[in-house]
Amino acid sequence: MCGIVGVVGSSQAAPVIFDALRRLEYRGYDSAGIATLVDGRIERRRAAGKLDHLAALLAREPLAGVTGIGHTRWATHGAPTENNAHPHGTGRVSVVHNGIIENFEALRRELEAAGHVFSTETDSETIAQLVDFHLARGLSPRDAAFAALGRLEGAYALAMLFAGHDGLVIGARHGAPLAVGFGEQEMFLGSDSLALAPLTRRIAYLDDGDWVVVTRGGAEFFDATGERVERVARTTALMAGSVGKDGYRHYMEKELHEHPVVIGQTLQRLIDPATRRVRLPGLPFDLARVPRAVVTACGSAFYAGMIGRYWLERIAQIPVDIDVASEMRYRDPPLTPGGLGLLISQSGETADTLAALRGMRARGQHILSVLNVEQSTIARESDAVLGTVAGPEISVASTKAFTAQLSVLACLSIAVGRARDTLSAEGEEALVGSLLDLPGRAGEIFDLAPAIREMAAVIAGARDVLYLGRGACFPVALEGALKLKEVSYIHAEAYAAGEMKHGPISLIDRTVPVVASVPSGRLFEKTVSNLQEARARGGRLLVFTDTRGAERLRGLAEIVVAVPTVDEFTAPILQTIPVQMLAYEVALLKGTDVDQPRNLAKSVTVE
Ligand code: F6R
Repeated sequence: MCGIVGVVGSSQAAPVIFDALRRLEYRGYDSAGIATLVDGRIERRRAAGKLDHLAALLAREPLAGVTGIGHTRWATHGAPTENNAHPHGTGRVSVVHNGIIENFEALRRELEAAGHVFSTETDSETIAQLVDFHLARGLSPRDAAFAALGRLEGAYALAMLFAGHDGLVIGARHGAPLAVGFGEQEMFLGSDSLALAPLTRRIAYLDDGDWVVVTRGGAEFFDATGERVERVARTTALMAGSVGKDGYRHYMEKELHEHPVVIGQTLQRLIDPATRRVRLPGLPFDLARVPRAVVTACGSAFYAGMIGRYWLERIAQIPVDIDVASEMRYRDPPLTPGGLGLLISQSGETADTLAALRGMRARGQHILSVLNVEQSTIARESDAVLGTVAGPEISVASTKAFTAQLSVLACLSIAVGRARDTLSAEGEEALVGSLLDLPGRAGEIFDLAPAIREMAAVIAGARDVLYLGRGACFPVALEGALKLKEVSYIHAEAYAAGEMKHGPISLIDRTVPVVASVPSGRLFEKTVSNLQEARARGGRLLVFTDTRGAERLRGLAEIVVAVPTVDEFTAPILQTIPVQMLAYEVALLKGTDVDQPRNLAKSVTVE
């Protein structure tokens, strides 16, 4: 949700900022801009649309200067025009902002009454005008920044540049992430460590409420009260090399192909190869004593949580409540103290998930998070973190993070089952055995691409698509429908297959393809009956099953894709891969912007 960068360097800042914005483009791509100091004056270049537009502008009108800030925008307040593009500012100060200033209207009225003239519709310009107000009163940049921060309500990560102060950038963080990178005689600010990866591996994170004064020689950190604080720079393991496309056409394609390795790496962390037992890192609470669990997340991560619920209930016999975080945060559910608050997030920055975490903590829950970015805000606010080892996920539509989350949730369910004695040692051995089989089985799915492309050709011509699944494959259907909507812009709905007869069946005719995930197992015949109902109404059935179920479905469905047969426990993990591949293939046929679909952003740090 917007990416910000700051550079206090010793060589030309604009190219460095631009490259960092490229690595942040996944956070938003409605417009972009850079400001630098040239002979003490603030100069800026801004362009609507993707970074290529800014690149073209910079080629025509290069920007000198060694100190600067940059921004790539996901619009919240104000259309994605050049005028609303960041950096915003006055002659005295320039600001880039990620987040939302909730009291901006009141502040704007106040500043206008004091004679400030605004030139955009954005909430972010208010910050620049507020800092300007204090600079005009004669305050120094750091005093003006501190005074302005005290008035802001909402969420922000900021970087500010001051006319006449070469070698100075001030950053601040409240509810949106900000990292400081330490180089040799050069310093950096960035929304995440990915942005800073090729520039430096020594990174410190601001805590919520912190602000930082960055100069060529280093960084001084302050808390919200203005007290000096220490924030330790750590060496991050993230290498720039891991963020290329590696010859694939899109990041989404690359990341789909990473499913097997990501599942394998994630399981490796949680399963002892010698004993073949799940071995979670030490938790500061006792899983055996947790009376119930409440699960929350957003989007795809929420669907992973839904599958986790099926596992936790079945394997560990623990009551589980689940809701999307944007609802959970306002629900005021009565939670039993000492319960498990389980959060799932790829980025670890999603605002709704973070707010739900804080609500759960206030209700006495132990907070356990399943996260891909282990240095994120949610990680810092959790009692314990189970990491997914998915590596950087650049494609805006999540793919590999989902199966990594499922791998963690599967291991967690086994651990809770063992702790509560609802799962025997032999039972654990069997479940672990099928998990360890997954990376190999997942690798075989890519051979099915030709049949998936046939399915894609049917779907690309449709306006609406219905996805069906039962049990733990119902969330797989939800994931398939979400992915199709996101990357192909085709309307799709997912239903628990048994619910179809309660309403959505009226939609079915030749023009609405029905995609179903139907692995063999307990619910196979029930789902086949639902498909027969759809077929009887003229529905075109495109079915994902496994090699055991394929024969039974061949007479019924128009196209059958059979993944390797695995047990019921791990089937949803395997079934996810082809539904995601299907969305990708449809997007290719539709010619959409696969990695950066319209209106979306990777990391949603606003409510
Ligand atoms: C879907 C997708 C989103 C995210 C959601 C949560 O492809 O990517 O639905 O799953 O925004 O994001 P995280 O996992 O970062 O909390």
